Amino acid sequence: MAEKLMCAVQYDSYGGGAAGLKQVEVPVPTPSKGEVLLKLEATTLNPIDWKIQKGLFRPLMPKRFPYIPATDVAGEVVEVGPGVENFKPGDKIDGGGSCSILHLFYGFSLIVVMNILDKKKQTGGGLAEYAVAKIDMTVHRPAEISAAEGASFPIAGLTAHGALTLAGLKFDGPDPGPQKNILVTAASGGVGHFAVQLAKLGNAHVTATCGVRNIDLVRSLGADEVLDYKTPAGAVLKSPSGKKYDAVIQCASAIPWSVFEPNLNSTGKVIDLTPGTSAMWTYAVKKLTLSKKQLVPFMNSVKAENLVYLAELVKQGNLKVVIDCKHALNDAEAAWAKSIDGHATGKIVVEP
Ligand SMILES: NC(=O)c1ccc[n+]([C@@H]2O[C@H](COP(=O)([O-])OP(=O)(O)OC[C@H]3O[C@@H](n4cnc5c(N)ncnc54)[C@H](OP(=O)(O)O)[C@@H]3O)[C@@H](O)[C@H]2O)c1
Repeated sequence: MAEKLMCAVQYDSYGGGAAGLKQVEVPVPTPSKGEVLLKLEATTLNPIDWKIQKGLFRPLMPKRFPYIPATDVAGEVVEVGPGVENFKPGDKIDGGGSCSILHLFYGFSLIVVMNILDKKKQTGGGLAEYAVAKIDMTVHRPAEISAAEGASFPIAGLTAHGALTLAGLKFDGPDPGPQKNILVTAASGGVGHFAVQLAKLGNAHVTATCGVRNIDLVRSLGADEVLDYKTPAGAVLKSPSGKKYDAVIQCASAIPWSVFEPNLNSTGKVIDLTPGTSAMWTYAVKKLTLSKKQLVPFMNSVKAENLVYLAELVKQGNLKVVIDCKHALNDAEAAWAKSIDGHATGKIVVEP
């Protein structure tokens, strides 16, 4: 019998940006043990998607080509693999496409990368009409959450939640502890807009940076103080009320340690989501010198229980999802270019 085909967007080699993407027809993937096949309703892009295309993780985890990118998806279960009991056809779920979710663990200065992709087959990511998802990284989507919203918070929301937890905020009990001063940089972005809201839910005083066009939005998400990052005051990250930060959720591209240092309290931490070479040196030096002020490289790990927690917040209206734009799958190149450009406000959605 002829294989069922689906539209998808893939790339055949590293590099090339949006021009490296190809609109193709490929067989619909088949779910294996512990997997479900989703008919996708929405996918969102994260910077890691195009960074992988540029060669991120290439030495540790070379890609098999052709490769269908994108990890954050929402859709309907249409088929289940062997051993799947908690999902059935017709269920709406959110989660990460199985093809490129990474589990990464930081231990001292070592990064251990464990690739969960079954290397023997191309299961496919979110830029497609169908994708296979591992059930341990998927959750049911409450009816109150749209597919676009559901696909928006897996990586970005979990990253914000994980970084704030590392910063010492508590989300799991009635007593949030003493109030912390948190700075969120690039607060208008995919991660930043969730970090501002979650920090407020964690009882923090929040200072945020963004461009002038997003100041009102970031305030409306709960930030107590907002700095325009293009002004001299914004560039030095100084809190207008003179507060020193207990932690910085560093979502912007490289900012030197010398800019953070005078704004941190005596035990302040910079949780760096995109640590480059300079940040890794700072991390090592601060560790070796037993400095109380620390730079902490952060790498997200996906836990279904935290996805459930975020879904509940979205359902209750306590976590807003800001969507920059929606693109059809046949216009995925424009969405890709927009993400590379780095000026989205909230999330970039692709719909099949
Ligand atoms: N470690 C991890 O596990 C992990 C997970 C997720 C993401 N990340 C990384 O975290 C970073 C943020 O991700 P994202 O999805 O939030 O990115 P994003 O959505 O592409 O961020 C875009 C936003 O950042 C703002 N921005 C850019 N530079 C800024 C600056 N210097 N100061 C203030 N705002 C600035 C832009 O505002 P304007 O348009 O006004 O410039 C835009 O609104 C990326 O580098 C990503 O790779 C890491």
